[in-house]
Amino acid sequence: MTQDPTSMTNPGAAGASTRKVFIKTYGCQMNVYDSGRMADALSADGYVPTETMDDADLVLLNTCHIREKAAEKVYSALGRLREHKKARAAEGKEFLIGVAGCVAQAEGEEISRREPAVDVVLGPQTYHRLPQALQKVRAGERVVDTEYALEDKFEHLPDPTRIPGKPRNVTAFLTVQEGCDKFCTFCVVPYTRGSEVSRPLAQLLAEARKLVDAGVRELTLLGQNVNAWHGEDEKGRAIGLGDLLYRLADIPGLARLRYTTSHPRDMDDRLIEAHRDLRILMPYLHLPVQSGSDRILKAMNRRHKASEYVALIERIRSVRPDIALSGDFIVGFPGETDEDFEDTMKLVREVNYAQAYSFKYSTRPGTPGADLPDHLSEDVKGERLARLQALLLEQQQAFMHSKVGQTMELLLEKPGRMPGQLIGRSPWLQSVNVDAISSQIGDIINVRINAIGPNSLFAEVAPG
Ligand code: 5AD
Ligand code: SF4
Repeated sequence: MTQDPTSMTNPGAAGASTRKVFIKTYGCQMNVYDSGRMADALSADGYVPTETMDDADLVLLNTCHIREKAAEKVYSALGRLREHKKARAAEGKEFLIGVAGCVAQAEGEEISRREPAVDVVLGPQTYHRLPQALQKVRAGERVVDTEYALEDKFEHLPDPTRIPGKPRNVTAFLTVQEGCDKFCTFCVVPYTRGSEVSRPLAQLLAEARKLVDAGVRELTLLGQNVNAWHGEDEKGRAIGLGDLLYRLADIPGLARLRYTTSHPRDMDDRLIEAHRDLRILMPYLHLPVQSGSDRILKAMNRRHKASEYVALIERIRSVRPDIALSGDFIVGFPGETDEDFEDTMKLVREVNYAQAYSFKYSTRPGTPGADLPDHLSEDVKGERLARLQALLLEQQQAFMHSKVGQTMELLLEKPGRMPGQLIGRSPWLQSVNVDAISSQIGDIINVRINAIGPNSLFAEVAPG
């Protein structure tokens, strides 16, 4: 899943006497989805979202633990919140601090010990208990709840489409699966998010229908290991993500489907067929490989070879030639030699990515990678990362340039900066600015790309 830090803001109509919550989201799209659901749970308690901590009565940090830096950011943010809490207390005002997400899950009690100003610590499986946790806090308790709850949190969270004052969205995330059983040796996810759990088909179809009825046109299915999703159909037959996509594609009014993040081992035939058959499934695939060296892939416990990954990409491209490939890379895994790194560069040249995320290896205590010998210096990791990122950027720009002059469908998502301008997404997930006075958010229009910006494209409405 994309791991760029994002700050989620929560627009909503705020009354003078209502309580306000500011949710700051770090990490992947799963956290963005979870933050939305936490806001939903709190709205039942009279909280409305706000965009800054300055006028908030409750601040929730929805945290990421994937790399060391991500966790450290949380502790420095908590230091600032502690000072703010003191100032509010001096004015006699309530100010509660909550930590949610993967740092909360991994560190639990340690967070309250390191930062006593924190009132509540909640792991990703207990968000539906947030209102009760706040009640306990007001009664003088400090709450740490990182259990893997036995009840299904999705059954207990309020219906996301029925929150008063919540704006209509054109795109939405839908978590279909959580957790991971793959145990890549660098990764904390199997420990923070637990083992793989798939949500049942009927629950997903119902939530998807509701979202579409509420105006959603594009759904992105989420999971730490989304293509490991598995379930049963109405006749009790075992089905996988490919089948789920076929089922969702039948929902009237739904225009686009995406899914993220996938593991190469779980790209089965049915999923590849879905890319061949379903026009509603956008031609974009985030398929992390992490390294191009078989030796390092083995040490990472990825359980496939570089050549198998390349062959898989070829199969997918043979059924959907216009598919844009995205990936994740880790450079400087313990023991990575210059040759191993060159194998990664070679794989990148072979695959030719439309976009990708790349990181220096970050030691995560408790993972097998942390105990391996031959950790590399930050300098070596930094040099390799710079070389890899230069190549990936070149490929990304070449991909953007290849779209200039092309006509494509754009789903309009939000207003642009200039009057009359709207921002939409291309099928390949690029952000596109277009002057489209007579169109509305939620429309799908034909546009012709005429220029490239640093991170987005510019287009005009296509004639006809
Ligand atoms: N160090 C660096 N990058 C990591 N990732 C996961 N764990 C680590 C780590 N310990 C990266 C992987 C993964 C993405 C979500 O984050 O590339 O696919
Ligand atoms: Fe982490 Fe590997 Fe699972 Fe992805 S597949 S979440 S990298 S353990």
